Amino acid sequence: MIDSCPARAGAEPPPEAQPVTQDTGLAAHFIVLELLPGAAAEAALRAFFGNAAALRRSVGRRLPNQQLNLVVGIGSLAWDRLFGQPRPAGLHAFRELRGDRHHAPSTPGDVLLHIRADSVSMCFELARLITDALAGAVRLVDEVHGFRYFDGRAMIGFVDGVENPEGREAGDATVVGDEDPGFAGGSYVIVQKYLHDMTAWNALSTEEQERVIGRTKADNVEMADDVKPANSHVALNVVEDDAGNELAIVRANLPFANFSRGEFGTYFIGYARDPAVTELMLTNMFIGRPPGNTDRLLDFSTAVTGTLFFVPSQDMLAALADGHPLAGQAAAPSPADTAGAASSPGAGTLAIGSLKGQAQQLGLQEPPA
Ligand code: HEM
Repeated sequence: MIDSCPARAGAEPPPEAQPVTQDTGLAAHFIVLELLPGAAAEAALRAFFGNAAALRRSVGRRLPNQQLNLVVGIGSLAWDRLFGQPRPAGLHAFRELRGDRHHAPSTPGDVLLHIRADSVSMCFELARLITDALAGAVRLVDEVHGFRYFDGRAMIGFVDGVENPEGREAGDATVVGDEDPGFAGGSYVIVQKYLHDMTAWNALSTEEQERVIGRTKADNVEMADDVKPANSHVALNVVEDDAGNELAIVRANLPFANFSRGEFGTYFIGYARDPAVTELMLTNMFIGRPPGNTDRLLDFSTAVTGTLFFVPSQDMLAALADGHPLAGQAAAPSPADTAGAASSPGAGTLAIGSLKGQAQQLGLQEPPA
């Protein structure tokens, strides 16, 4: 039967996002790659973009109940080198934050592989196939194997990821829509590797730890607003637009540990429709809201990496194997790339108008229009 509904007839379905809103999984490999010089390396990476979904299926279909999934992100410098204009509106290098007490470094990364599954062997197998496919084309600059701890707790013992949006709200918070039509179905992801001072943390009483986070530890309940300290992690990460609407990201953090190196950490990974939202949260944590009122969790946690990636839609990722699918189309104005450079305190994308007022309140510098 011919569909005569004008709204449906010929309407293209929206591009499908990569699985950015999936649960953390019981295990994850977070791998950051640097693209080596040369045309052969670029060709190998583009070919991998075209083959990523097939590699994921090769492993995932062997044990479907283990929920293997893969997200591939592309860094700002790699995007420019491989594809040029037009570029995703919010893509830029992670902006270093340097406050009086805390520092969020910006570290290099051309490609992010976020591999999640319900067993380490599934993550390992997919990582093995991908790194084999990219041998000679990339260098691994960071690799963390995360695990889901009891009750989904972070290394510091509190349940993590509780206030993540779910269902349609999760998609709305993470997937680019009409605001950047060429890149609809895409997403932005910021990753940071944190190391915790577990000796200092464990020296706190449970009540004091609860005041650091803003939630109770055993029951996992948020403190009432009149009790929750203004420098608690939760208080500083509740952010709103100028109309008072709460802005959300979707986090898939996992703990990791390396006993021989004495490392106990949290791999922070936050997906957002506009990276300005995550950048505002980071500004609150590292510079403070108001400036100086920094996140107490940072007294026990040190960020050692920080990188931002664009996550193309499934279709765009596959199409990038053959070059830029939008090549020849008008370029969107792009924010200046500040790779590795210290920016003014907390300067973020702030591309969404609704955050501009907050930027002014915080005394942040707006990027050029
Ligand atoms: C040191 C690493 C981190 C640890 C251990 C950590 C842990 C936690 C925990 C235990 C909670 C409370 C439960 C929940 O809602 O998930 C939480 C909430 C939250 N965190 Fe983090 N987090 C870390 C870093 C970050 C960073 C870097 C950001 C943002 C850039 C962030 C954003 C949030 C948000 C948005 C919430 C929910 C606030 C709410 O609506 O109640 N976290 N985090």
